[in-house]
Amino acid sequence: MTTYLNQDRLRNKENDTMTHPHSKMYKSKTFLLFSTLLLVAGQASAAVGSVGAPAPYRVSSDCMVCHGMTGRDTLYPIVPRLAGQHKSYLEAQLKAYKDHSRADQNGEIYMWPVAQALDSAKITALADYFNAQKPPMQSSGIKHAGVKEGKAIFNQGVTNEQIPACMECHGSDGQGAGPFPRLAGQRYGYIIQQLTYFHNGTRVNTLMNQIAKNITVAQMKDVAAYLSSL
Ligand code: HEC
Ligand code: HEC
Repeated sequence: MTTYLNQDRLRNKENDTMTHPHSKMYKSKTFLLFSTLLLVAGQASAAVGSVGAPAPYRVSSDCMVCHGMTGRDTLYPIVPRLAGQHKSYLEAQLKAYKDHSRADQNGEIYMWPVAQALDSAKITALADYFNAQKPPMQSSGIKHAGVKEGKAIFNQGVTNEQIPACMECHGSDGQGAGPFPRLAGQRYGYIIQQLTYFHNGTRVNTLMNQIAKNITVAQMKDVAAYLSSL
């Protein structure tokens, strides 16, 4: 597999996830061919720290470089944690990248090429594997401002702005269930990025597009501070 990576972009500071001019990406000199790193990553393939069934072979060669071997220690703020994520949600997202129905910018750049190579048996095996990994708990260690305000939004919503309580679908502790993704312990930068995509409609989901319609950037940051602290 050959993956094109823009290292600067992936390394964006946690709070700098909102502006990614698409055209600049492709012109950037730092747009690197990463196949050497992927090869190295593939060779260092021992499934250290993973639990459950052995990793499907593609994890070490095709996923680890961005998501980490267990999906817990993702290398960059815009890359989501997958460990302990619900199986049906993981399957749905991989299928949506493959058929291009999840067409947000980072998904198109980083996940479309990956998902293209996956058939439904591999998708199921990968979803099983990441679902079986121990979910992240306060693993970022970084404290962001707004945890208290974010917790209030998560538990109660913002009534006069028609933002419902997130816990109604994502669970009282952000643990999610089935098609409702786990958000607890997810990365700060990734959460803000996805809420931005739902807000501006580039990631399509009827429920979340409606929910994120009125959310402000400050509220996105607060709720991300809370969830990434869990
Ligand atoms: C080049 C880096 C890179 C590689 C390699 C990669 N991913 Fe990703 N992955 C990302 C990024 C970045 C996102 C977030 C994309 C977005 O915002 O839509 C993502 C998103 C995902 C999601 C969506 C999770 C969610 O919470 O919605 C899943 C599932 C996923 N990746 C699985 C995999 C699997 C399985 C592999 C290996 C077969 C893999 N990825 C390889 C960078 C990568
Ligand atoms: C009515 C149910 C519902 C409510 C309420 C809800 N969500 Fe969601 N949320 C979903 C569903 C369903 C998805 C998965 C969308 C998909 O499959 O693409 C999702 C996805 C997400 C994601 C993307 C996770 C990932 O791994 O990519 C984030 C972030 C998120 N929601 C945040 C919130 C926040 C913050 C609130 C409260 C302001 C909230 N949600 C309220 C149903 C809900």
